[in-house]
Amino acid sequence: MKIAVTGSNGKMGAAVIKAVNDSNIAELGVAINRADNMANLINKFDLVIDFSRPKATLEYLKICQKNKKNIVIGTTGFSDTELQIIKKTANDIAILLAPNMSIGVNLSLKLLETIATEIGETADIEIIETHHSNKVDSPSGTSIKMAEVIANKLNRDLNKCAVYDRHSIKKPRNKTDIGFSTIRGGDVVGEHTVSFFMDGECINITHKAFSRKIFATGAVKAANWLNKKSSGLYSLQDLLGT
Ligand SMILES: NC(=O)c1ccc[n+]([C@@H]2O[C@H](COP(=O)([O-])OP(=O)(O)OC[C@H]3O[C@@H](n4cnc5c(N)ncnc54)[C@H](OP(=O)(O)O)[C@@H]3O)[C@@H](O)[C@H]2O)c1
Repeated sequence: MKIAVTGSNGKMGAAVIKAVNDSNIAELGVAINRADNMANLINKFDLVIDFSRPKATLEYLKICQKNKKNIVIGTTGFSDTELQIIKKTANDIAILLAPNMSIGVNLSLKLLETIATEIGETADIEIIETHHSNKVDSPSGTSIKMAEVIANKLNRDLNKCAVYDRHSIKKPRNKTDIGFSTIRGGDVVGEHTVSFFMDGECINITHKAFSRKIFATGAVKAANWLNKKSSGLYSLQDLLGT
């Protein structure tokens, strides 16, 4: 399986190239950076692993759709409109979209579902995430995914219960709020804590990424899995069978 790695000059791009080279299931077909035209390199790869920016991803997606190449998307920060485009494109090719490629985060999602089912209605739910100072989107795609799985379990609409900024809200929190707090600084790879505050106690689920390697190896495993799939939109949960 020959992989095209986009955003190849980026932090994740470099980690994915290393993971591909270290793996025995994939080989690097081509490293694609901002200056390259993917359409001209189409014969060099079977499948794409993309960690870039939403605007670039959508351009790569068009080329993949036209040439029937499957794509693993690790890029985060898509708008609802952009997510709809990805969903529609999945009618023609197989797409695995995962805002976090780590096994640990995806197991944490399972734990969050369990805790939400047990105590979600009575708890005050807050998510704190920390990332390096160069991260562009906020809150992180992972924290949004965490909130989504909790909201789904509680039959809440995240568009209505998410609170991203309390600066102008001069009143106590609503019971159904899911609050987000974002910290940016230094070279933190990624930390997420979801807190369920109850009367007199609190449960925290924390995941810390110490290295980008976990996302990169996850993406290579995802590519290997996706290579055999027909069209459709998949998540890492589909791969893990959780
Ligand atoms: N799913 C996961 O597990 C996971 C984990 C970590 C990060 N991420 C996400 O992955 C993405 C990349 O993260 P990163 O830390 O690697 O960022 P980064 O170091 O800033 O790298 C981004 C790369 O995208 C390229 N790029 C930006 N705009 C482009 C455009 N218009 N056309 C073509 N290429 C473009 C950049 O090219 P230049 O070098 O030329 O600027 C750079 O190589 C982010 O969305 C991040 O949130 C996801």
